[in-house]
Amino acid sequence: MTAPAFPPPTWPTEARHAAQAYAQGDFFAAHEAWEDAWRAAQDPIAREVWQGLTQVAVACLHRQRGNPRGAVKVARRALKHLAAAPWVWQGLDVAALRRDLALWLADLLQGRDPGSCPRLRAPAAAPFPHARQVRSFVLREGRLTPAQRRALAQWGPHYGLPADQPVDPEAVFGRRAPLVLDIGFGDGQALLEQARAHPEWDFLGTEVYRPGVGALLQGLAREGLTNVRVFVADAWQVLTRALPDASLDGVQIFFPDPWPKRRHRKRRLLQPAFADLLARKLKPGGWLHLATDWPDYAAHMQAVLDTHPAFRNANPQGGPYPPARERRPTTKFEAKALAQGRPAQDFLYWRRKREGGKVVVGG
Ligand SMILES: C[S@@+](CC[C@H](N)C(=O)[O-])C[C@H]1O[C@@H](n2cnc3c(N)ncnc32)[C@H](O)[C@@H]1O
Repeated sequence: MTAPAFPPPTWPTEARHAAQAYAQGDFFAAHEAWEDAWRAAQDPIAREVWQGLTQVAVACLHRQRGNPRGAVKVARRALKHLAAAPWVWQGLDVAALRRDLALWLADLLQGRDPGSCPRLRAPAAAPFPHARQVRSFVLREGRLTPAQRRALAQWGPHYGLPADQPVDPEAVFGRRAPLVLDIGFGDGQALLEQARAHPEWDFLGTEVYRPGVGALLQGLAREGLTNVRVFVADAWQVLTRALPDASLDGVQIFFPDPWPKRRHRKRRLLQPAFADLLARKLKPGGWLHLATDWPDYAAHMQAVLDTHPAFRNANPQGGPYPPARERRPTTKFEAKALAQGRPAQDFLYWRRKREGGKVVVGG
């Protein structure tokens, strides 16, 4: 199915002119026309979007004129404005724009050529969840060892949770305890270590790689741990279908697949739309702990989260959070990366209790 016409005829005249000027690389004309649109807009979301697009055009203008610092500053502002809009807004693919802009910004922060300006486009016709047309993983079935296969068959029904229907964590664990979600736990040995060290916490893990799930189940059963449950599913599905809003005290994503090639970077799990989803599922005051050994993924994570209105960097100086290292065991991927000369960087963010001056529900 082809994408609908862009810019859509429902946009105000100034905004359509701006989109056309932007597409032709005339960022000056684009920013002026969008500025007219946001000044005239009555609806608060429309104001935010047109302001966001104005800043996108200004950022591109700075970049065109050889001022990367100005471009960084303004692109950050643009991301904040665009974060007020839904993923798809009046025929504009806001989620894709935010993702491309975050990648563009991360390149600038790394002192690299970010290439052409982020494109504006209509959302491709696709089923929900819209922003999930690009997967963050390639499903490798891998080779299950006989023990992993047995563990999946024997312990899957006990520790496994369905990802396609709502889950009530308190009912699952039979108690109310701090709840942590580990996304992409790999072989699960770090998660196992945490669950053993913190019997007072409950842990949910999600992973698409079945040999890894089998390895974790083996460990859970061997040690008789009761504070872990597992989804064998894409984290997007778990978050959109299974978990209630404001249910998580913490989310950890350790060494997500880095997708280092430029053409693959849109596959990275941590994108603005994914941060929106995490913000919804975390309790106000909850934490998000990330670790990566890829410097440009680190810059990308920061570009996404530092500009996200729901998150605050736990490091008052900004940047990585050195003490966070003590909050997690060494993972298998970390050990591999270190052996190849790539040390890890950790980032810790708080889910804000207030957003835009208002207390967040549940805060
Ligand atoms: C590089 S590994 C890191 C594993 C582990 N956290 C560690 O540090 O050893 C990334 C893992 O994330 C999983 N993954 C990627 N995208 C995912 C998604 N959308 N939902 C669940 N798991 C995902 C992959 O299958 C892979 O096992």
